[in-house]
Amino acid sequence: MTRPRTVLVALAAGLVAAGSFLVLSPSASAASTLGAAAAEKGRYFGTAVAINKLSDSTYSSILNREFNMLTAENEMKIDALEPQQNQFNFTTADRLITRANEIGAKVRGHTLAWHSQQPGWMQNLSGTALRNAMKNHITQVMTHYKGKIYAWDVVNEAFDDSNGGRRDSNLQRTGNDWIEDAFRTARTADPAAKLCYNDYNTDNWSWAKTQAVYNMVRDFKARGVPIDCVGLQSHFNSGSPYPSNYRTTLENFAALGVDVQITELDIEGSGTTQATTYGNVVKDCLAVARCNGITVWGIRDTDSWRASGTPLLFDGSGNPKPAYNAVLSALNGGTTPSSPSSPSPSSPSPSSPSSPSPSGPTTPGSCSATTSVNAWTGGFVTTVKVTAGSSALTGWRVSVTVPGAVTNTWNASASGTSGAVTFSNVSYNGRVAAGQSTEFGFQGTGTAPSGTPTCAAA
Ligand code: G3I
Repeated sequence: MTRPRTVLVALAAGLVAAGSFLVLSPSASAASTLGAAAAEKGRYFGTAVAINKLSDSTYSSILNREFNMLTAENEMKIDALEPQQNQFNFTTADRLITRANEIGAKVRGHTLAWHSQQPGWMQNLSGTALRNAMKNHITQVMTHYKGKIYAWDVVNEAFDDSNGGRRDSNLQRTGNDWIEDAFRTARTADPAAKLCYNDYNTDNWSWAKTQAVYNMVRDFKARGVPIDCVGLQSHFNSGSPYPSNYRTTLENFAALGVDVQITELDIEGSGTTQATTYGNVVKDCLAVARCNGITVWGIRDTDSWRASGTPLLFDGSGNPKPAYNAVLSALNGGTTPSSPSSPSPSSPSPSSPSSPSPSGPTTPGSCSATTSVNAWTGGFVTTVKVTAGSSALTGWRVSVTVPGAVTNTWNASASGTSGAVTFSNVSYNGRVAAGQSTEFGFQGTGTAPSGTPTCAAA
């Protein structure tokens, strides 16, 4: 009787060593905690932790029971770890590592380079002195935690909210290469840690900020700048609602060859509406192979940085909310949900997507294409969904009339930039099973395409 158990333990040990969160379950029954349910899907489920609350027994028992990834909400930020230049204080943050070890959880490190929560001495630096201080901070902190951190948010919130460019900050003013300098420094300090870029308002694929981060990651991958993951904070509220194209965003980042992690999830609201959105976020992550974990930004509503929005999974007394049940159910519900997530009830800015425009009925061996366009004064983003007919495709071409000029294409290659432009599949998305779909997109300046695209099997 001991032999199968030994094999299972050895297998499990191998999977842990490989960095997998898959847990071998003795039965197919639904897991009863968030962490266990996520692990059965090869993912983790984490929370932000306020370390001074570890002595709160309600807080602590939920933490120990439900979560297998921990992020320090504030205690691994620059001001906390390096209050005076080159004088590090790891005592409080180390308590999170200890707790994680006690409960078999892993730790996400947050965050090494950020314009906010800098200690006073750093706020007053500029130029080479600041760049060197940033690199020293990364090296010292990652060396202290070497081998103990699953993934680091190496750089946090470096992009502007509105114009698709970089956020102005003292770090940005040291030169545009500060982000890649941070990632290269991080790889040297702890080669085993996953290195992430983390930001908010990067959930809606059509938003300029999402496109800007996507372009940076694509550029880093093309030039060999070390980056392993993209963190979508995913703080959802009425001003920044859960977008209906969230899964597209996850897919497109993943297609660049990085892991995607939902790093600070909270959804303002209550009851069924909030629960449905939480469930949709989980389904979206499970539908994307490289979406390998979800972290909520706190445990009880009263622990949240936005407590009045009651955005978390447990109420102030520590009781699970409908949102908790929706998340657990979605985690237990399978990796390939049959129905796509429902659209957000409110329209995202900067503009609402137009209605899909079908290109006609499908016949065997053929395909159809529908477009969704987000346009603003002077520019647009077009997302194209290619659907195979009753036979599988091994390649496809979509022709679109572009009045303006294409500046950027993803998941396809374009024959030109303006007029009659043909978009062809790239190496990884030419094969589409019968009745299934794949998506590509392009961004441009000037007037957006408005006509009906044609699709042909290639
Ligand atoms: O602990 C002190 C307390 O002693 C003091 O009396 C009080 C007075 O202001 O401040 C308390 O510290 C606050 C700390 O949260 C702990 O509650 C800080 O002022 C406050 O600035 C800090 O806010 C944190 C915020 O980051 C700072 O930027 C939030 O807790 C934290 O949830 C939030 O987390 C960020 C992520 O790091 C990055 N993404 C966005 C996310 C939400 O803003």
